[in-house]
Amino acid sequence: MFQTGNERIDNDHARIIELVNALDDNGLPLDKRYNLFSYTAVYIENHLSIEEDFMYTIGYPGIKEHLQEHRKLKVEFIELLKELVKDEPSTKSMKDFKMLFLHHIEHWDCNVAKWQSSNN
Ligand SMILES: [Fe+2]
Ligand SMILES: [Fe+2]
Repeated sequence: MFQTGNERIDNDHARIIELVNALDDNGLPLDKRYNLFSYTAVYIENHLSIEEDFMYTIGYPGIKEHLQEHRKLKVEFIELLKELVKDEPSTKSMKDFKMLFLHHIEHWDCNVAKWQSSNN
């Protein structure tokens, strides 16, 4: 996985991918999956706000656009939760979220790290 070089942020990314992989397990009973979903949603929310605080702290100029991307990630995750309430989320959707999240790390989060290392 792509590393930003910020230990806390990189550890969070690895943990979120682990959680998303666990959610992708179709053999998991619905109640367990629901609990895991709620836990993951809170984890993601906390991670995004830590990252946002970090961007404010370093005075990152691309924060506005980055915040919009965080909003999109949250919406996508909530959409999956809605699917779970109706029925079980399809494997494809969870895989799509994983791809979206990995893309976010590679593009958006690594850009913050690059900017920080050349400006601080
Ligand atoms: Fe992140
Ligand atoms: Fe981010």
